Amino acid sequence: MSTILFIKSSPLPEPQSRSTRVARAFLEECKRLYPEDRVIELDLYNMDIPLIDASLLNAWGQLRNGTPFDQFDEQLQDKLGKFDALTQQFIDADKYVIASPLWNLGVPPMLKAYLDTVAVAGKTFHYTEHGAEGLLSNKLGIHFHGTGGVYSDGVQNAYADPFIKGLLAFLGVKVLPTVYVEGIDSAPHMEGEIIDKAINEALQAAAHFNFDKFGG
Ligand SMILES: Cc1cc2nc3c(=O)[nH]c(=O)nc-3n(C[C@H](O)[C@H](O)[C@H](O)COP(=O)(O)O)c2cc1C
Repeated sequence: MSTILFIKSSPLPEPQSRSTRVARAFLEECKRLYPEDRVIELDLYNMDIPLIDASLLNAWGQLRNGTPFDQFDEQLQDKLGKFDALTQQFIDADKYVIASPLWNLGVPPMLKAYLDTVAVAGKTFHYTEHGAEGLLSNKLGIHFHGTGGVYSDGVQNAYADPFIKGLLAFLGVKVLPTVYVEGIDSAPHMEGEIIDKAINEALQAAAHFNFDKFGG
């Protein structure tokens, strides 16, 4: 049995977010193919995700210098605890499904904040004499990407998908090709066709979302 983390990063309700809808179709297919897997859903805009700020950076520095955790005030302990719990939840999962809209060529800020909680030196990657090395080598990930324009053909550049896939790969995760739900804002009359194409790709991708295919 695997645990799938479904990471939803649109603030809009699911029916209004195209990438979330297509990711949902993918998960329904996964449920059919891998009925023993369990899914944990994270709705990032309805969560309390600690931002890396001066209080966290200072606390981590103090912890490294030997300050006991219980020396921090209750608020800071709570913040550190929430951050660590998100890191641990990510480590405990086996598969990651990320649905994200493209915002100003990048990721929505809550997704950035969330990804900051899962890239932690000593836990999800470490430094070796050959450079950084991911510690999550027995995991799979996939990104469902909603974009107003078209980017998958490489004619225009955007930075959300390379960032998300790059970060997962940096952590050692094996990443499937991204499923784009793209171009609806620039061609609204094509909406049905674009969604159908993306759902079709999602259903095909589901067949590859298992460790046998990766020998893992
Ligand atoms: C704040 C904001 C910024 C956006 N920036 C871009 C952008 O840089 N490029 C683009 O093609 N579409 C952009 N869009 C359009 C969305 O990416 C598009 O509507 C997408 O379908 C939303 O994703 P979702 O429907 O999967 O949630 C932006 C939308 C919003 C609300």
